[in-house]
Amino acid sequence: MGSPERAHLLIASNRGPVTVEAVEGGEDEVRRGGGGLVSGMQTALAASPGAVWVCSALSDRERVLARRAQGRPLSSVDVDTGDIAVRMLPIDSGTFRRAYNGIANSTLWYLAHLLYEPARSPVFDAAWTRQWRSYERYNQEFADALAQDAAEGATVMVQDYHLCLVPAMLRERRPDVRIGHFTHTPFAPALYFSMLPDDVARQLLLGMLGADVLGFHDPRWVRDFQECCATVLGAQIEDGAVALGGRRIECRVFPLGVDAEELVARSRRRDALARYTYLESIVGDCAVIARVDRTELSKNILRGLQAYREFLRSHPEWQGRVIHLAFAYPSRYDLPEYREYAGAIERLGREIEDEFGTDDWSPLYLQIADDLPGSLAAMRMADVLLINPIRDGMNLVVKEGLVLSERDAVAVLSRMAGAAPELGADALLVNPYDVSETADAIHRALTMPPEEKAERASRQRVAAGAGDPVSWFRAQIEAVEAVPARPVV
Ligand code: G6P
Repeated sequence: MGSPERAHLLIASNRGPVTVEAVEGGEDEVRRGGGGLVSGMQTALAASPGAVWVCSALSDRERVLARRAQGRPLSSVDVDTGDIAVRMLPIDSGTFRRAYNGIANSTLWYLAHLLYEPARSPVFDAAWTRQWRSYERYNQEFADALAQDAAEGATVMVQDYHLCLVPAMLRERRPDVRIGHFTHTPFAPALYFSMLPDDVARQLLLGMLGADVLGFHDPRWVRDFQECCATVLGAQIEDGAVALGGRRIECRVFPLGVDAEELVARSRRRDALARYTYLESIVGDCAVIARVDRTELSKNILRGLQAYREFLRSHPEWQGRVIHLAFAYPSRYDLPEYREYAGAIERLGREIEDEFGTDDWSPLYLQIADDLPGSLAAMRMADVLLINPIRDGMNLVVKEGLVLSERDAVAVLSRMAGAAPELGADALLVNPYDVSETADAIHRALTMPPEEKAERASRQRVAAGAGDPVSWFRAQIEAVEAVPARPVV
């Protein structure tokens, strides 16, 4: 312990900051994660020399490289990860698949976003239990790697629902380190969470409570988590903390915002400008309703399209004067439910086109593809941002849209998005299940007087830029490091 190579600051997340892909006949292609969150965390880590990011190998190629690195950073096998040390874990592909697709993306994601249809799902049977064992193993591999790499008294920042068991496992292996855990999703209400097998429900909560500080985006997710702790574990809730077994675990809200300057600069790069010109030719004089999402069940894209259809039916005066630009990035196609969902979005899109389209007007531009430049361009020209998730940890897209819109966009925003408490006073909040209310809100947004739009937009731009990724992550590190050090016994 305490050897100079060990890190004083570590991040652990399923998906790391780089993706490595084998290119036929050439060198591996290394892509750095583009999102603001990854770059924000990287910037914060860069201030702490020797920091390490521990993540899972996600493909066969990454597993080969991770095995070759033998527990050392990827740079030791000539993968350029920039100024940050990345340790990838070569978790066996079956274990990874069962933990990631089976438990993290199906069970835990579905719980957090209320996606089950209780007459049919969930089903906890022998096959599911096998997946759960894999999730335990996958968490153990992270805990082992972190225990090995952490210097004495180090700070370890664990990310998300993939790694709920890591805090307690790590605490057991290394009682001297300080541990933070951040949940990027909502947390399931107690009644819903209690669908889990009792022992698993306990294990998940106790796993997270191994941390010193637990972070969430929205006070509502803190309340849900604490209610689960009280119901399932009989824990006491005192002054924002969970008290259990003589320990106090702080639960804190750290709302994430966007780096406005970087985002605007990105939207002015050549690829995004080219997409802007192209979209302008499609949009013409029409008002623009924009949305950008992954093809993700929780994003509620289908009800968004239904609301747009209802709006066009009930306000025919807008036919020919408005266009909906809907960008959806293919996501999690390993899960059949996601492939079917993307298909249903396309079908509904065609129905809208067939019902309203004319020779010289198309009501909808729907694109299911990875298209960051196009999304940035669409947000620049948005009059309305339609963001109606069933539930969402934060929803950064609405903040990005507010920062980028050059037409003082009005946000039609689900009240169940983590961004709603911060933006609610100036956004038009809707119940995500209420298609008619959403259709009315679209109409209200399109007919709002320009002065009112401008006032709301200027306040919202400020709110969206608060808590940029670097300060967001630093605040969490500070909260964890404020916990008194535990001596090594
Ligand atoms: C969204 C969620 C994050 C999650 C990520 C995983 O961005 O908000 O909480 O970590 O999805 O996505 P992935 O593609 O890695 O499964």
